[in-house]
Amino acid sequence: MSQLKIRNIDFLFEDDVAFQWNPGHPGCGNMVNSTSFIAPAFERYFILAMRDAKKLIKDPALLAEAELFCRQEGQHSKQHFAHVALLIRKYPGLEETRKQVWRSYENLLASKDLKFHMAYMANLELLFAPLANYMVRNLEVLFGGSDQRIASFILWHLIEEFEHRSVAIKVYDHLFDDHRYRLKCEYAMIKHLWSDVGKIVREGLLEHVPASHNSISHVKTASIFKGTRGRLSFLMHCLDTLLPNHDPNAIEPPEWIQQWLRDDEQGVDMARYYPPQPLESPAPAISEISA
Ligand SMILES: [Fe+2]
Ligand SMILES: [Fe+2]
Repeated sequence: MSQLKIRNIDFLFEDDVAFQWNPGHPGCGNMVNSTSFIAPAFERYFILAMRDAKKLIKDPALLAEAELFCRQEGQHSKQHFAHVALLIRKYPGLEETRKQVWRSYENLLASKDLKFHMAYMANLELLFAPLANYMVRNLEVLFGGSDQRIASFILWHLIEEFEHRSVAIKVYDHLFDDHRYRLKCEYAMIKHLWSDVGKIVREGLLEHVPASHNSISHVKTASIFKGTRGRLSFLMHCLDTLLPNHDPNAIEPPEWIQQWLRDDEQGVDMARYYPPQPLESPAPAISEISA
């Protein structure tokens, strides 16, 4: 039976969280900001597609896992949406960016069939366990000099992605079991993420957020790799997800993730979990920003 847990954590998207909330690693900060625009839309897309998939699942245990998967994704979507709402309060023009990303996923949902949606979901979900491993391995470099309110939120999301890493591929294989089609959809997924919704976000950030509110260009997301270890093994793990016999459950959780899970069980404040100390100089209040 599934071990997935539904956590209702009150993350702190307060007005003095800066647009560039991660001065210690702005490339990581940029990646998370961009993700916050895209994730709520694809998580809703997954939940809606999974609603149809659940009607076809014959295995009760898998059905229960799919249900918990959707509930976790619902929490992720809600929290990313709260982060985006904060950014929109600071830079109101970003509301149109959010809407365009949303519409792109609505179009995808309407124009493709369930097999495509499940392949898109399985392919993307499979990448999150390698990503969680890589980011946790580089925790101090990536998050050591960041605002703990956003770092703690994104680390929670990564951990739950690790936790439910096998659900989407199990549903896809249960319903379709078509590895060649899944491979074909990998390209479509990457193209959609980079050339469609990714482009919308890049253009929106450049248009609506002053360049002076960041130490690097808002669209430099590849800088997330700067100064990190294990880039090659991350790439190899991503490629491994394309193999027909890939088993995400064979990826062991790193000790830091296991400690996070134990601390969550113990009632530790997960909204200020990492880094241990708050940033010394928070951002100016929204009323002081001249956008
Ligand atoms: Fe998620
Ligand atoms: Fe997920």
